[in-house]
Amino acid sequence: MTNSPNQVYPVIWHNDSVSLIDQTRLPNEYAFVEIHRSEDMARAIKTMIVRGAPAIGVAAAYGMYLGAREIETSDRHDFLENLDKVAQLLRSTRPTAVNLFWAIGRMLKTAYETTGTVEQIKQILLQTAQDINTEDLQTCQAIGDHGLAVLPTNPRKLTILTHCNAGALATAGYGTALGIVRSAWRESRLERVFADETRPRLQGAKLTAWECVQEGIPVTVITDNMAAHCMKQNLIHAVVVGADRIAANGDTANKIGTYSVAIAAKAHNIPFFVAAPLSTIDFELSDGSQIPIEERNPEEIYQIGNTILTPSNLDFYNPAFDVTPAELITAIVTENGAFTPSDLAQSQIKQMV
Ligand code: MRU
Repeated sequence: MTNSPNQVYPVIWHNDSVSLIDQTRLPNEYAFVEIHRSEDMARAIKTMIVRGAPAIGVAAAYGMYLGAREIETSDRHDFLENLDKVAQLLRSTRPTAVNLFWAIGRMLKTAYETTGTVEQIKQILLQTAQDINTEDLQTCQAIGDHGLAVLPTNPRKLTILTHCNAGALATAGYGTALGIVRSAWRESRLERVFADETRPRLQGAKLTAWECVQEGIPVTVITDNMAAHCMKQNLIHAVVVGADRIAANGDTANKIGTYSVAIAAKAHNIPFFVAAPLSTIDFELSDGSQIPIEERNPEEIYQIGNTILTPSNLDFYNPAFDVTPAELITAIVTENGAFTPSDLAQSQIKQMV
């Protein structure tokens, strides 16, 4: 390991460029990649150097600024036309996490609504990307504290199971699901985290476990097929996961395998919480069947490092996300408090987004 951070910030604006923690190299190496151009940011999102719904939103916002900076014109119309192309490039990277589209949309809206010179628009775009970054950090801290308020109180110290990585690495810092874990740890309400390894890319084993180790939070890594067994053995008091997109009825897309954890939690009467910023709710989609699910390279299934795991000439199917139906979700914890999925239909919540 190169060195260890006190606080984990996966996306940092620094010296006129963006430093990304290279999440493909963790936990063995803690290294940064410097991004100067929008094209490189698009590649970093696609190849998952930066990943996790809010983090790719923040990264894409900076990508929009980097793209704006590259446009060499003082004509407003030309500038906006070229900025639309940058937006298209960044949007084409990963389809499921709505935070990506939300952040790009906010950057574009800012550009279109800003009067003044092209240079002034560029400066406001940098400021907006930095605001998105700062706001996400505050949002995660609020999610953590609201989540703590809805966790079961018996026993006092809980064992929480999580899937994938919805931690500081997946956000501007602190995390959504791991934000709740962090808040629980701070208040001495946490006994231990159970981290599903999360095949095929192992974000649980590599990233969630790494974050817990950095903070001294006790963590037990299990393979994905062990979760139901652990529940049956009364080892788990609550499940907390993140989200990539939540439809208007509360159906929630998150990392592949989340759905089976939710079914197992229901079968064992264990509360199942989704932790996400309001920007993850997509009121345009009435239910989860409309959420686009990314399919990734089959290599992620048949190869680990240089080792090929399967015979050759096989078919593979590698959906990166699944959709947990709203009825399996106890509550959705946001920066404005916890809601049941059916609460989302209330107009006050729509107005918050
Ligand atoms: O494919 P990934 O690693 O980007 O998937 C990440 C997840 O599924 C997270 O749980 C989700 O984005 C929420 S992150 C706060």
